[in-house]
Amino acid sequence: MGPGDDAGVYLLDEKYALVETVDIITPLVNDPSTFGAISATNSLSDVYAMGGRPLTALALMGFSPCDYEHQVIRDILKGALTVLETAGVSLMGGHSFEENELKFGLSVTGTVDRDKILRAGGAGPGDVIVLTKPIGTGVIATALKGGKIGDREIDVAVKWMLTLNKEAAEAAVHAGATAATDVTGFGLLGHAHTMARGSSVDFVIHSTEVPVLERVRDFIASGIVPEGSHNNLKYLEGKVDFGDSLSEDERLLLTDPQTSGGLLITVPEDRFEEFARSEISHSIIGRVEQGSGRLKVR
Ligand code: CO
Ligand code: CO
Repeated sequence: MGPGDDAGVYLLDEKYALVETVDIITPLVNDPSTFGAISATNSLSDVYAMGGRPLTALALMGFSPCDYEHQVIRDILKGALTVLETAGVSLMGGHSFEENELKFGLSVTGTVDRDKILRAGGAGPGDVIVLTKPIGTGVIATALKGGKIGDREIDVAVKWMLTLNKEAAEAAVHAGATAATDVTGFGLLGHAHTMARGSSVDFVIHSTEVPVLERVRDFIASGIVPEGSHNNLKYLEGKVDFGDSLSEDERLLLTDPQTSGGLLITVPEDRFEEFARSEISHSIIGRVEQGSGRLKVR
């Protein structure tokens, strides 16, 4: 697969291919079991983003034995197992290693029909651009770390991070999606740019149509912005045409790094109804135009 694709694919036979991926993250919530569940959901997402079905997983955990009780480690795994059970994925084992900062994630293996692989490239002019989850989890996590928001107030963000991209991916494949990826560390615009470039088309995104978690704009206005947002925005310099009306805050919002974010999908316009019928939460955030891999934000 290409550099923008979410997982590696190994062709097995005439019909099936293996999908393999690994993802490890640091805690972004205080409750160990919730962290384990979010990380598992996040790790599975790359298989879904390829149109695949995850089957097995291996757990990877880095921690300092002096800093954490065994119960914390057990709770993280317990949270992950709950998600794997829901997704129908078997945990085959794993590996732990000593590490100053706690880290947890999964290596996931799945299968995909080789003629139904969703790639980051493949979007065509006229496609609608669909996003299945609101953005802003990076800002919320930063606000939590800074003590600006309490554990109880992040329930909605947590709910979204625990939403599997399984049904969204199935609906995308069913509706003949031309391309897909999951929105994670590079933020909405970073991943949209990868798709546009990989498809050799332009993506036109309407910022007012992008769903955003509550309070996120207020936090950004008061200076609570993850470092990743600034880095992502800097990386996109010269690659994105921002409309004049788009403030710096709005740009930082659109590059907010997501954990377990939604799927970004391009669907031919005449097949969009099929996707919408699936009752997956979604917003049309823009359109694909003929072009040369640029991103235009209005
Ligand atoms: Co991904
Ligand atoms: Co990934």
